[in-house]
Amino acid sequence: MALAGEEPDVVIGCAGGGSNFAGLAFPFLGRGFRGGPRPRIIAAEPEAAPSLTRGVYRYDFGDTARMTPLVKMHTLGHDFIPEPIHAGGLRYHGMSPLVSLLKEEGHIEARAVHQRASFEVGVQFARSEGILPAPEPTHALKVAIDEAMEARAEGRSRVILFNLCGHGHFDLSAYERYLSGMLEDYEYPAEKVADALKALEGLPVG
Ligand SMILES: Cc1ncc(COP(=O)(O)O)c(C=O)c1O
Repeated sequence: MALAGEEPDVVIGCAGGGSNFAGLAFPFLGRGFRGGPRPRIIAAEPEAAPSLTRGVYRYDFGDTARMTPLVKMHTLGHDFIPEPIHAGGLRYHGMSPLVSLLKEEGHIEARAVHQRASFEVGVQFARSEGILPAPEPTHALKVAIDEAMEARAEGRSRVILFNLCGHGHFDLSAYERYLSGMLEDYEYPAEKVADALKALEGLPVG
């Protein structure tokens, strides 16, 4: 950003387990905690695996086989079975404990995006920038475009930084399914969010 002579107003990354989001956002958060500028920071996740936006903040296992140590995080339950959405890297049931704590304490925001909306902006981005994004970062891209449209409606400029964390060259069949109208949206049902709690019975609350 310094090379570009800009300072971001908003920083946006997609979040599966949280590492690529953290790589982008934590330097800005750290600088803010040390008294520097504090851009808004947004994690973008799929509606089909909405751990940060709809999960519970509890101790849970990081894996289905219950082999990992317990970690306090936003979770949909370690027995969560994701819908077959194409953003495969965003289907994890939990979230990094550090990202979860930052969300819990209000330092970051989170938004959930449907997969058809994410593919729509993926196509828009390919047509306008000549780069085909992977399905994962199209979630961040959707939030970035929403932020830009909102700024335009308000008649203000807004510097938006988002992480294009992968290309979509291996996802052409997913784009083909989207373009032929075969892609479905999945929203994680409220009952399943409640069910997630059952998998956590007997585990420490925190
Ligand atoms: C292209 C891409 N972006 C983002 C992610 C999600 O990353 P993280 O688990 O670090 O949130 C993945 C995970 O596989 C990925 O393949």
